[in-house]
Order: sequence, then structure tokens, then C-alpha cells
Amino acid sequence: MWRNAVPVVIAAQRSPPDSIDASPSAAQRTLWIALLSALARRRLPRRDLGALACQAVSGRIELAVVATAIIAVRTTLAALSQVVINAAAVFHTSLYLSDMHPFLDDAAARAPKRGSRTHAAPTEEIRLEEVVYQYPGRDKPAVDGVSLALRRGQILAIVGANGSGKSTLTRLLIGIYLPDKGRVTWNGTDLAEVDPATVWANTGLVPQIFAQWPLRVRESVTLGQPRTHNDAPVWEAVDAVGLREAVEDLPAGLDTLLARDVFGGQWQRVACSRALYRRPGLLILDEPTSQMDPRGEHQIFEQIKAIAADRITIMVTHRLENTKIADHIVVMEHGRITEQGWYDGLVHAGGTFAELLELSQDR
Ligand SMILES: Nc1ncnc2c1ncn2[C@@H]1O[C@H](COP(=O)(O)OP(=O)(O)OP(=O)(O)O)[C@@H](O)[C@H]1O
Ligand SMILES: [Mg+2]
Repeated sequence: MWRNAVPVVIAAQRSPPDSIDASPSAAQRTLWIALLSALARRRLPRRDLGALACQAVSGRIELAVVATAIIAVRTTLAALSQVVINAAAVFHTSLYLSDMHPFLDDAAARAPKRGSRTHAAPTEEIRLEEVVYQYPGRDKPAVDGVSLALRRGQILAIVGANGSGKSTLTRLLIGIYLPDKGRVTWNGTDLAEVDPATVWANTGLVPQIFAQWPLRVRESVTLGQPRTHNDAPVWEAVDAVGLREAVEDLPAGLDTLLARDVFGGQWQRVACSRALYRRPGLLILDEPTSQMDPRGEHQIFEQIKAIAADRITIMVTHRLENTKIADHIVVMEHGRITEQGWYDGLVHAGGTFAELLELSQDR
């Protein structure tokens, strides 16, 4: 259901939301609730208290009855006040809920229609054929006629300047977006015909910007996977990213709720361990080590190399030295592949790759 929301979020960037209930009747209802709430919050007026006191002094009403009356009135007002305050809160929340249903319907209507074919592991080959993708509201394609062929066991590195289309390409590769032109195939089947859940079940993605879920360490690593009572594979994934020592130092080890105890590079390690835990057929790491220290970075790339034989691996990086482990490197500029080859070849080709490498070393 939630994946259908993606195009709506994109569309919302272009136009203001028109589903918010801003009608006069909603304003009127809100006003009434606020008024009732304010009335209910009023205390017993001094005038009434004075009248009761006079009656008690003159002996017309017994003192005990006056006291009971005051307590009863106060208690009733307090309870009434609470009821109105809670009703106001429910009403307020219901305004958001009434917006949610049209939002989800709209999202479903805008979502690209896909087929129901299933992708079965192993993922032997992924191909992009003249793929073009343009974001709504943009005047140029973010990816503009890219063709690539990836085979199991291969490590592909994607490099290029900011905004050259690297991250968009990774989203097209796994069917988060469908191309406007061209096609992406997994084992020969066009992703437009495939149920995306079966593709994503075989994908491990460490996105450039990832969520820092406030979960326990164990759940952070196994997120989205079947529950397990065996911690061995969790520790294996934690070890693979060099996080064991940090996790053992946490107050409750794997049971520690991740929040303030974890920082920049460690969050990246958690995200990497989650992707590795899945043992996916396609592993995509988009700037996975940008906040890591050199030791952490080295360990992650060693690990990628060690497990590369069973899968297709794609890494996006600005640190060109890291692309030494790749079998194939593509350089992107303005949504197009402008250079490709292997590390030593590109270093001596005198093109953009060589220029960027020289700049990064000249500090
Ligand atoms: N959600 C979006 N909506 C509209 N335009 C977008 C969106 N995401 C990216 N773009 C645009 O698409 C182009 C490619 O962006 P992309 O994020 O793929 O580049 P990148 O190579 O990954 O950049 P970086 O190195 O900064 O991560 C850029 O011009 C960018 O502004
Ligand atoms: Mg990017």
C-alpha cells in the first residue's frame, strides 16, 4: 500500500495539497468544540459559591450538604472538561484520518501499473536498455539513454559528479521507478511486468539517505526479514561491518534500543549490516561509507569483495580509490554514461575519471 504513495509525494512537490478539509463547516465544528472545551474548563463561579455560603450561614442548608454540593459540582465539571478535551483531540485527529483515505486512493491511481509475474532467484542477469527517466516537473531527464548489462558475480561501480543520475539509476535498476522509455529486465523479464515485491525480496539496498530506525540492534539488522530466535546470523552481519565491539559495549548488547548511543558512521554500518543480513541477489550500496573511518571503509569493501561471487553488486561512490575492487566502472555525466571500463584502464584514459581521481589526490 505504502509504495503507491511515492508518486503522490512527488506530485505534492509540484502542487499544494487540495485534499485538506478547509471547508467552512469544518471550521465551524472546530469552533464549537473549542467553545465547549473552554466552557467546560470554567471553574465554579465565585457568585454561586457566595450564594451557597449565605444559605449555609443563614441555616437554610446544612454545611455538609453545601460541602457535598461543591465537591459534586467540581468533580462533574472536571469530568466534563476531560470528556470535551478528549472529544476535541479525537475530532482533530479525525481530520487527518479523513485526508488519509483520499490520499491513498489518489496514490493508487497514480502508481505505475505493473504486472503480476514473479521474479525467482537466483538473479543471473540484469539489463538496462536505452533507459530514460525524467522526474515530474523537471525539464531534463535524470537518466538519459543508459544501457548496461550486469551478470552474477560482477561488481559494478558507478561514479560521477553530484546530480549526474547515479542514485536515480539505482532506483530504476530495482524498479522503484519505471523508465519513461527503454526497459529494465531481470533474468530477461521486463520489470514493468513483475510484481515488485518479488524483486525487492531479492534486493539489499543501502540508500544514500537512510532511515535511522529507533529499534533494538537485533531488529535493526533483521528488519523486514522473518523473525529469528537464532542470533548467530545477526552477529555474522554485525561482524561483517566491524560493529561487534561497539554492540558489545552497548548497555544491553543486541537488545539495546538504538538512539543516542549510535553516531554517523555507526548508523551506516547498521544499514550495511541490514543489507548483508538479507544475503540478496542484488546488493546496492549508494555512498555506503561516506561517514566511516578508513578502517571501517576498508572492512566494508573487503566484505563486499568476499561475498561478491554469489550476487550482482553495485556500489556508488565519490571515493574513486574504492572502485579498484570493481570489475566494471561507469562514469555518469548529466544522466548519461560517458566513460566505462576498469580501474587501470580509466586511470590512463585521460578522461573524466582520471581528472576526478587526480583532483581527489591533489589535496
Ligand atoms: N525526487 C526528485 N524529484 C525531482 N528531481 C530529482 C529528484 N531526485 C533527484 N532529482 C534530480 O535528478 C538529477 C539526478 O539526481 P541523482 O540524485 O540521481 O544524482 P546523483 O548522481 O545520485 O547525485 P549525488 O552525487 O549528489 O548523490 C538531479 O538533477 C536531481 O536534482
Ligand atoms: Mg546520489
